[in-house]
Amino acid sequence: MKTFYATTPIYYVNDLPHVGHIYSTVVTDVATRYHRLIGETTRFLTGTDEHGQNIQKAAAEQGITPIALADRVVARYHDLWKKFEIRNDDFIRTTEARHRRGVEALIARLEKAGDLYTARHEGWYCGSCEAFYTEKELDKERRCPVHGTPCAWESEENVFFRLSKYAAALLEHYEKHRDFIRPETRRAEMLSFVRGGLTDLSVSRSKVTWGIPFPGRPGQVVYVWLDALTNYITALGFGSEDDGLYREFWENPEGRRVHVIGKDILRFHAVYWPAFLLAAGLPLPTTVWAHGWWLRDEKKMSKSIGNVVRPDGLVAEFGPDALRYFLLREMTFGQDASFSDEAFLTRFNADLANDLGNTVSRVAALCRQSFGGTPDSKSEEGDLPAAWREAEPEWRAAMEDFAFNRALEGVWRYLTRINGYIVAREPWRVRKEEGASARLKAILYTSAEAVRLVAVMLSPFMPATSRRIFETLGLAGVDPGRADLAWGGLAAGAAMPQAASLFPRADAGAYFGEKEKTMTETPQQPSGKTPPGETTQAVSPSDTRIGIEEFGKVRLVTARVISAERVPKSRNLIKMQVDLGSEQRQLVAGIATRYEPESLVGRNVVVVANLKPAKLMGVESDGMVLAATVGEAGEPSLLEVAADVPPGSRVK
Ligand code: MSP
Repeated sequence: MKTFYATTPIYYVNDLPHVGHIYSTVVTDVATRYHRLIGETTRFLTGTDEHGQNIQKAAAEQGITPIALADRVVARYHDLWKKFEIRNDDFIRTTEARHRRGVEALIARLEKAGDLYTARHEGWYCGSCEAFYTEKELDKERRCPVHGTPCAWESEENVFFRLSKYAAALLEHYEKHRDFIRPETRRAEMLSFVRGGLTDLSVSRSKVTWGIPFPGRPGQVVYVWLDALTNYITALGFGSEDDGLYREFWENPEGRRVHVIGKDILRFHAVYWPAFLLAAGLPLPTTVWAHGWWLRDEKKMSKSIGNVVRPDGLVAEFGPDALRYFLLREMTFGQDASFSDEAFLTRFNADLANDLGNTVSRVAALCRQSFGGTPDSKSEEGDLPAAWREAEPEWRAAMEDFAFNRALEGVWRYLTRINGYIVAREPWRVRKEEGASARLKAILYTSAEAVRLVAVMLSPFMPATSRRIFETLGLAGVDPGRADLAWGGLAAGAAMPQAASLFPRADAGAYFGEKEKTMTETPQQPSGKTPPGETTQAVSPSDTRIGIEEFGKVRLVTARVISAERVPKSRNLIKMQVDLGSEQRQLVAGIATRYEPESLVGRNVVVVANLKPAKLMGVESDGMVLAATVGEAGEPSLLEVAADVPPGSRVK
């Protein structure tokens, strides 16, 4: 039986999730949802990589145990994946007993193959990669090609894996299985890396204690990458009695086993991992799909650079589906892409609010006004059914090929066809001239059915939006499957509920006014503390300090809230009138996620009084209320002063 098993990289727990991690996970979610939609048996795994020296160090810096750090970050991942409707079947943590058992079982096989030996290990080591580099992979300053930070000379007694023995077998595998490494450019990279010759790989560490003890080698722990890569099979029960899933998804000759990863970790997945599996006599993954990087200001978005986009602000304002859509539509899978607020907003308004949202509400309104729901007969007319028969295989081919942007482009072309059809048929005129005629029924059934098929094609990408479209069409509770991918699935004579707009247009001015607070964050430790030796921005401390005269330019005063109300259509803005002692002002603050407007009245807050007025969601704000932003979500907590401080008192 055809099965589809897809995995994300397991994420380190010394960082909080950002857009880069979300991308890998959403891609895997979309791919798995697609394969499930077309009727395959699927399984989707994600998880966390919790061992190794970086985690040990991060925990020590925060004064907590590594497992406490891991627990904290894992909770964040769980929350985030829930918010994004990530439909993973399992979540593996490398600190779990089932994982350790599987790693031990794999190592037993490597031992049995005679592929492990002990020797002194010396070389240039990047602590962030937890990997050794050869002299020729480094520049003159011996900096890591991924992190740009200097590598250190390390020397210790380790267990080695005979990687060199597998170079020829790997090359043969790459030749025979053109799909093993995708896209092609990455395949070429790996070919040349392996052709350049492989040296044996050190697979244990003696100076690290936070890891799985190396079986039979006292004083050594398993190298974090051997430990981590094995998650893909330990989560299926490899090494345990209960290995049904392993047999179903990993050993099935007809099964597809796909690892979605970022290009930074390709070598581990396309060289080391298959070599371990070859040595152990186990099947290899069918494809390692390496995607590019999300860049910000032309650099890889990463904690060490300090340019990451955290998702919380975007999700609070636009919803998770908008971000899912943007990430998949904007990046050509395999290539790098830049994350820009402008591009996000343009896509939100043009693609989601206008093309998708307006088409759905237009068709729904026409059906409701004409028939109180869908037409009472399944009749069709015009070229939309034929256009669907062309669009569907193209969409499928793109989905199979991980060309998600191409798949979405196809859906949008079909939306354009639907719009063109409606404009050409003028159903509003037909209704006026002919009433609820057979022709009107056919036109509206055709349009609504085409919209339903758009919702099916979008279901892997935007599950919540797709559900809402189904509901709008009177099809509540549909979990789309293969049968829904055929013309004619829309029920005739179904009641259609009044539905709110899918994506209310965003006000660019308001968004950019608030962006500073919600978009880019300086890198944060899970505790919110910055570890010693790291600055919160990629600038030197002397650049970030300001003089007292500069601070003096900011006029901070106390203000009492007189009244407060929500800004219509905004999830987090509150408009309030405040008393500044000598005058009354209107302010707008992004605090509705935490405060009910009525709870604000009477509070004594701190305001920046000499800020140029700005418009937020079209509402003027004459000044700014100060709030601390708490935790990863940037939850606001108002700065307040004692009730007896008169309004207008200077704060300095
Ligand atoms: N723990 C290892 C992976 C072990 S897999 C057996 C690791 N973890 S990580 O937390 O650093 O996450 C790495 C993955 O996150 C990358 O491979 C990539 O998939 C994703 N991304 C992190 N930053 C990214 C971007 N700026 N852009 C796109 N994806 C990136 O490496």
